[in-house]
Amino acid sequence: MSSYFLHQRPLHPGLSNPFQPSSSRSQSRPTAVSSRATVLALISLVVILGVLLPWSGVHRNISLFSYPDPVLARWRHYSLVDALSFVSKNNTVIVCAVSLPYLPFLNNWLISIVRQGHHDKVLVIAEDYATLYKVNERWPGHAVLIPPVLDADTAHKFGSQGFFNFTARRPQHLLNIVELGYNVMYNDVDMIWLADPFPYMEGNHDVYFMDDVAAVKPLNHSHGLPPPGKKGRPYVCSCMIFLRPTAGAKLIMKKWIEELQAQPWSRSQKANDQPAFNWALMRNSEKADLYLLPQSAFPTGGLYFRNKTWAKETKDKHVIIHNNYIVGFDKKIKRFRDYKLWLVDDHADESPLGRL
Ligand SMILES: *[C@@H]1O[C@H](CO)[C@@H](O)[C@H](O)[C@H]1NC(C)=O
Ligand SMILES: *[C@@H]1O[C@H](CO)[C@@H](O)[C@H](O)[C@H]1NC(C)=O
Ligand SMILES: *[C@@H]1O[C@H](CO)[C@@H](O)[C@H](O)[C@H]1NC(C)=O
Ligand SMILES: *[C@@H]1O[C@H](CO)[C@@H](O)[C@H](O)[C@H]1NC(C)=O
Repeated sequence: MSSYFLHQRPLHPGLSNPFQPSSSRSQSRPTAVSSRATVLALISLVVILGVLLPWSGVHRNISLFSYPDPVLARWRHYSLVDALSFVSKNNTVIVCAVSLPYLPFLNNWLISIVRQGHHDKVLVIAEDYATLYKVNERWPGHAVLIPPVLDADTAHKFGSQGFFNFTARRPQHLLNIVELGYNVMYNDVDMIWLADPFPYMEGNHDVYFMDDVAAVKPLNHSHGLPPPGKKGRPYVCSCMIFLRPTAGAKLIMKKWIEELQAQPWSRSQKANDQPAFNWALMRNSEKADLYLLPQSAFPTGGLYFRNKTWAKETKDKHVIIHNNYIVGFDKKIKRFRDYKLWLVDDHADESPLGRL
């Protein structure tokens, strides 16, 4: 039902909830209210009775992937501008980019965000249509797909625009979001929140990030960009980034895209945009206000999961944990389970997506 309205009406940036069309518009346009409201009510009734009720769960799941039903298919036209105006709170959004196999991780991450009361601001950037439909079916308005969806063939042709599009996608999405005037927090979904990260986004810096280096630092370490390591650049993680809609943040995203374009191609590089992010930070550190988040609150998985002494010493300080420094889907899940951080087994009811 909700996507029906979404498709029928142009959305306006100020409209906070596109799924309750009567309220905000009716105030500004009193004369159109009654007939509009009647029509909308009738449409809702028809849609509810005629479309939603007769579907069994099984029918819906099948149609979702092979033949998306017309109601879900309309999410194809849900734009980034509309999605941002719907999910943002206080001009801020939390985004992740997810393809279908990562839905369990998305759900785990989401449950942890629900517990901090920030899930309303979450926008899932779907990497495929199945993810777009699945998330919006369960949680209308919280997923958007930014075309093009790349097939593996184009993505692998080095030098092609398809290849460039593939690697440059994450900074390009973040650039679009800050250009539209929003603060944005990006997270990989193999992360989990143990506390509210927003109080740590202190001051008015342009770009906030965490270090991916596992060596223990003093609690009062500097918040400046870490020094370059053996590869001539720092090892900042592209997994967790907070940006303000400033010239400095936009510059870093543009430089990140340029660095990706310039880097030599290899199969492993294509999915790894972290080196380019670090070159962009290092080469432009004078032109943007950069802020390294505290290690005790935002540790790399290489520290949190591998140094039990450190983890115990800093126990009450952890805010976001990244399940990295380990390869493979199953291994990540097992490790989260071992640390009682895999919430989807017992707490799926807390997720806005429910049990997947
Ligand atoms: C809203 O955002 C501003 C600036 O980003 C921040 O300082 C403030 O604490 C936020 N307010 C709430 C209620 O989250
Ligand atoms: C690459 O992205 C641009 C801009 O988003 C788009 O117009 C173009 O069609 C894409 N090309 C390929 C091959 O995906
Ligand atoms: C951290 O604290 C130590 C000892 O208290 C001090 O020597 C050092 O300069 C401090 N470092 C920073 C970056 O403030
Ligand atoms: C582990 O953490 C402890 C406590 O912070 C630290 O003293 C030690 O050097 C760390 N071990 C390694 C291998 O980094």
